[in-house]
Amino acid sequence: MSVSPVVPHHIAIVMDGNGRWAKRRFLPRLAGHKQGVDSLRRCVRACAERGVGVLTVFAFSSENWNRPADEVSGLMELLALALGREVPQLKKDGVRLYFVGERAGLSQKVRDGLVQAETATAENTRLVLNVCFNYGGRWDIAQAAASLAARGEPITEASLHGAMGMSHVPDPDLVIRTGGEMRISNFLLWQSAYAEFVFSDRLWPDFDESALDEAIAAFGSRERRFGKTSEQILPAHPDPMPG
Ligand code: FPP
Repeated sequence: MSVSPVVPHHIAIVMDGNGRWAKRRFLPRLAGHKQGVDSLRRCVRACAERGVGVLTVFAFSSENWNRPADEVSGLMELLALALGREVPQLKKDGVRLYFVGERAGLSQKVRDGLVQAETATAENTRLVLNVCFNYGGRWDIAQAAASLAARGEPITEASLHGAMGMSHVPDPDLVIRTGGEMRISNFLLWQSAYAEFVFSDRLWPDFDESALDEAIAAFGSRERRFGKTSEQILPAHPDPMPG
């Protein structure tokens, strides 16, 4: 008898390795990012099929502006292109899109595209897809604190959570980073406090369904204690000699 895997409700992914995928094929870095979009499409479908409720991906960090100008403009164009191509299917597939990050730094065209995509999918309930774009964990904490201060509201864990970009979803259960590096790179600093981490050597374009299943299986094998002891987490042993 096969046992169904414990599926995390919220998976978050640092999609790293597009550049190396392209370099290994003597292709420009942008070719790797294009392949990354294909991998993301496959991952969204796989997550929906497995019953994941929320998928959050890191598509463009606050620090990515420091990349060569042609790569930055290429990523902006890729986002606009991907939205045009993917949103109709996402809409049919029941995926609700949110963009999390600082919009002020983006062009009006990109900003309009984000609003249109969010509006077009606003009725969907099967899977929430958060695309972190022009996002940084430190930026999110700082902007939340600043907005509370500007409103004269007290700064507490609950009020900060409510003012942050991911307040519409519960915290991630599983954070995956592809591409072999083992660091957080300013992703979901606040929200990943009790997440389980899985680091995959696969480059993001090569991260397929089997790699996702491996990460989900690793998650299922972990004991999540949330600061408690193992004994507090495990169900109490039944009395061997009742009566
Ligand atoms: C990191 O790989 C990846 C990014 C900075 C971009 C991620 C973007 C996508 C997966 C495509 C989806 C994006 C949009 C715009 C919808 P890297 O370039 O740092 O790879 P490397 O570490 O091998 O150089």
